[in-house]
Amino acid sequence: MSHRPIYLDNHATTSVDVRVLAAMLPYFTEHFGNPSSINHVYGWEAEAAVKKSREILAEAINATPEEIVFTSGATEANNLAIKGVAEAYFQKGQHIITVATEHNAVLDPCKYLQTLGFEITILPVQKDGLIDLTQLEKAFRPDTILVSVMAANNEIGVLQPLTEISGMCRERGVIFHSDAAQAIGKISLDVQAMQIDLMSFTAHKLYGPKGIGALYVRRRNPRVQLAPQQHGGGHERGMRSGTLYTPQIVGFAKAVEIALQAQATENEYLTQLRQRLWEQLSQLEGIYLNGHPTQRLAGNLNISIEGVDGAALLLGLQPVMAVSSGSACSSATTAPSHVLTALGHAEQLAYASLRFGIGRFNTAEEIEQVAQHTISTVQSLRKQKILA
Ligand SMILES: Cc1ncc(COP(=O)(O)O)c(C=O)c1O
Repeated sequence: MSHRPIYLDNHATTSVDVRVLAAMLPYFTEHFGNPSSINHVYGWEAEAAVKKSREILAEAINATPEEIVFTSGATEANNLAIKGVAEAYFQKGQHIITVATEHNAVLDPCKYLQTLGFEITILPVQKDGLIDLTQLEKAFRPDTILVSVMAANNEIGVLQPLTEISGMCRERGVIFHSDAAQAIGKISLDVQAMQIDLMSFTAHKLYGPKGIGALYVRRRNPRVQLAPQQHGGGHERGMRSGTLYTPQIVGFAKAVEIALQAQATENEYLTQLRQRLWEQLSQLEGIYLNGHPTQRLAGNLNISIEGVDGAALLLGLQPVMAVSSGSACSSATTAPSHVLTALGHAEQLAYASLRFGIGRFNTAEEIEQVAQHTISTVQSLRKQKILA
C-alpha cells in the first residue's frame, strides 16, 4: 500500500476497531435474521443480539434497555428528539433554547421548527466555548418546552456543564436534550445523576460502524413523550420504525463496551499526546488554542494560526496528515466555522484554523512528525508571504 497520511481527524469519524468488526461479522451471513421475526431461530438469534446490545448501551449510561431507541446515527437522533418534542408538546409551549456552537444536526432542525412558528433562542458562548449559565437562566420563558445543549463539541472539544443545565431545566419542568455524539465512551455519562431527558449517540466516532446510533428517551420522572418522525412497522416502541440493523447494533455495543473498559487509560494517553502536540506547536508565535484549556475532550486540539492562509496551510499539510479545518461535516463549504466565529474570532483567524482529532490508534512518533511538519509548513508560508 502506498504511504498514507497520518490520520488525525477522529472527530469526523474513526476506523472500526478490529474487535468491533469481528463481533459484527457473524450477523451479516450466519445470524442474518430479522429481529422482528418471531417464528424461527433466525429471528430469535438476531433478537437476542439486539437485546444484549441494548442492555450494554443502557448500562453504559445508567438507563434501562426500554429507554434506548436505535437510529441511523446522531443526526437522526437529534431530529427525533427536537422535532419529536416540538410536535408532542406544542400545545404547552413553542419556545426552544439551544446554543450557537451546536452541530448543524441540532441547529437545522431548530431552524426548520422556526418555519413552523416555533421560537428559538440561540445562546452565545463565552470565549472559552462554555455557555454562560446566567444567560441560560434569563432565556427561560413560561412557554419554553426544550433546552438542547451538546455534551462535547465536535470542533473545539469543549465539555458543557450538563448537570448544572439539567438542574435549571428540572426546576422549570423543561425537557433537556443533549447531543452526546462526541462524548459517549470518552467521558462518563449517567443519565440519572445528570438528570438527562433525551441524549443522542452515534457509533462511528467511537471505533464503531457508521450508520448506527441511538436516542435515550427517559421513561420515568418524567416520562418524555415523542412524536415519531418516521412511521412504519412500529419498531422501537413506535418511536422509530424500520428493520433493526443487527450487525451495526452489535458493533455499536461492542465499541461502547471496549471504550468504557479503556476510558481512563485511553484518556490519559490522549491527554499526553495532545499536550505534547500543543507544547511543540505553541512555540510558534501567533498561535491560539480554541476552547477551554482543560474542560475538553482528551483527544481534541483546535488551534488558530495568524498570518497564514487556511487553504494554503491545509494543502501543505495534506501529504503528511489528515486533519480538518472547521467541522468535517461541512468542510466542503468555504465559510468560516460557525463554532470558531461564535468564540468571537475575527473571520480571518477562523479561516486559518486546524482541528487535530487524536485517537486510539495514533502513536507518539506520529504526533512528533505532525508537530514538526506543521511548524515547518507555517514557517515557510509566513516566509513566502513576507517575500511576496
Ligand atoms: C456533535 C455531533 N452531532 C451530530 C453528529 C452527526 O452524527 P451522525 O454522523 O451519526 O449523523 C456529529 C458528527 O459529525 C457530531 O459531531
